Amino acid sequence: MAQASIGVVGLAVMGSNLARNLASREGNTVAIFNRTFEKTESLATAHPEAEFVTTGTYEEFAASLSKPRTAIIMVQAGKGTDAVIDALTEVFEPGDIIVDGGNALYTDTIRRERDVRAKGINFVGAGISGGEEGALNGPSIMPGGSAEAWETLGPILRSIAAIAEGEPCVTHVGTDGAGHFVKMIHNGIEYADMQLIAEAYDLIRQGTGLTPAEIAEVFVEWNTGELESYLIEITAEVLKQVDAKTGKPLVDVILDQAGSKGTGVWTVQTALDLGVPVSGIAEAVFARAVSSKPAQRAAAANLPGPSTPFVVADKEAFIEDVRKALYASKIIAYSQGFDAIVAGAEQYGWDIKKGDIAKIWRGGCIIRARFLNRITEAYAENPGLVALVTAPYFTDAIAGTQDAWRRVVASAAQSGIPTPAFSSSLAYYDGLRAPRLPAAVVQGQRDFFGAHTYKRVDMDGTFHTLWSGDRTEVSAVDSH
Ligand code: ATR
Repeated sequence: MAQASIGVVGLAVMGSNLARNLASREGNTVAIFNRTFEKTESLATAHPEAEFVTTGTYEEFAASLSKPRTAIIMVQAGKGTDAVIDALTEVFEPGDIIVDGGNALYTDTIRRERDVRAKGINFVGAGISGGEEGALNGPSIMPGGSAEAWETLGPILRSIAAIAEGEPCVTHVGTDGAGHFVKMIHNGIEYADMQLIAEAYDLIRQGTGLTPAEIAEVFVEWNTGELESYLIEITAEVLKQVDAKTGKPLVDVILDQAGSKGTGVWTVQTALDLGVPVSGIAEAVFARAVSSKPAQRAAAANLPGPSTPFVVADKEAFIEDVRKALYASKIIAYSQGFDAIVAGAEQYGWDIKKGDIAKIWRGGCIIRARFLNRITEAYAENPGLVALVTAPYFTDAIAGTQDAWRRVVASAAQSGIPTPAFSSSLAYYDGLRAPRLPAAVVQGQRDFFGAHTYKRVDMDGTFHTLWSGDRTEVSAVDSH
């Protein structure tokens, strides 16, 4: 049997495309395996140019690979992944490398890495972004795992990754679950970005009465400036599309109930555990949830709204305001996403280079954007940046957009147009920069009903007030 340099297990769409991508690169011979052999056969038959080594059993698959064996698993996340890992660890040897390229939850990856490493085999959880097209032509890849595994794997992954400004969109993110963690945050940011763009569309449509096709032109124009990104580009395409059946804009015949596969939810759940406010991402997840409650929406359809209609006097100025509000909110969403990466890295002991993460998101993945260069630069200037939004470039960007942002959020509120991501991003921004927060009141309430104590601005220690009657007696509970 021919010796293959790398193998792929799981030949559904993503696996097939990744196998074809690997096979198309100089020097790679790719072994393929699928639980159901017909898929293996039909992939090899459909793509003779790939010269795949087809294998029918895990034993054959292992025997076909040169050592150290390297296999990328592309199966259904969850039970499928565990089943394949179990089978591969039976036939692989110490020093071999198993890569999970699926959308695994990072805590599963931490567990799997520990279990597989105990057998002397390297396990790499790799986030792969870019969908079917990316898998075939060049995704953004976020691998975790050991430095030893990265040595072998690095050149292979670099050869198949997307290229952005001459650099492959892959870097060793950190140990064990770091890659899948960063991929999860990537997806969370993607949720926020999509929701923000959708809100911008809604504001323009309701505020100016432009048609979807006309708004598509606005987005095409925006795509030549600081908002340039894949998501803005495809939104223009979506808005341009006409439904063949009815002749209406397609966006008007698509049911307005957004689905999800769960990575946004994971991001928010994780951020809650880490105590990181990712409000832009959370609002995006909740907005999809609101949209997908038809019974509640029907019951609420006649609830009162504002008495005055939404009238925009200067349409061009309004559209420019929305553009600026979108940019400012997007900065917040990314700033929050990077906060979550920093907190995750701290919690799990990962040495994650934030600037490198922004770099590998510049190509191949859904959130690819010109804007990411600014993030890389911000972290290059100051690797210890405590919040992205405080980097000089972003501070200036917000200084130039915040008036517009406030006008947009205010008119959305007055006109009854839901802009949860725009509004919450602004509230977060104002919370972050406030010299005093009403958290002092919350602390007072907590001390009142639960003796939870509080700290003072003017002395060290922990205090509790005896709240009964009009006494405001203060006791130092634990001063030092
Ligand atoms: P898609 O959504 O594109 O179909 P997916 O559900 O992520 O992809 O993955 C499906 C792949 O996982 C298939 O290759 C499937 O193998 P079969 O073709 O035999 O169904 C594979 N898969 C799922 N569960 C598996 C398991 N327990 N062991 C091995 N492969 C499994």
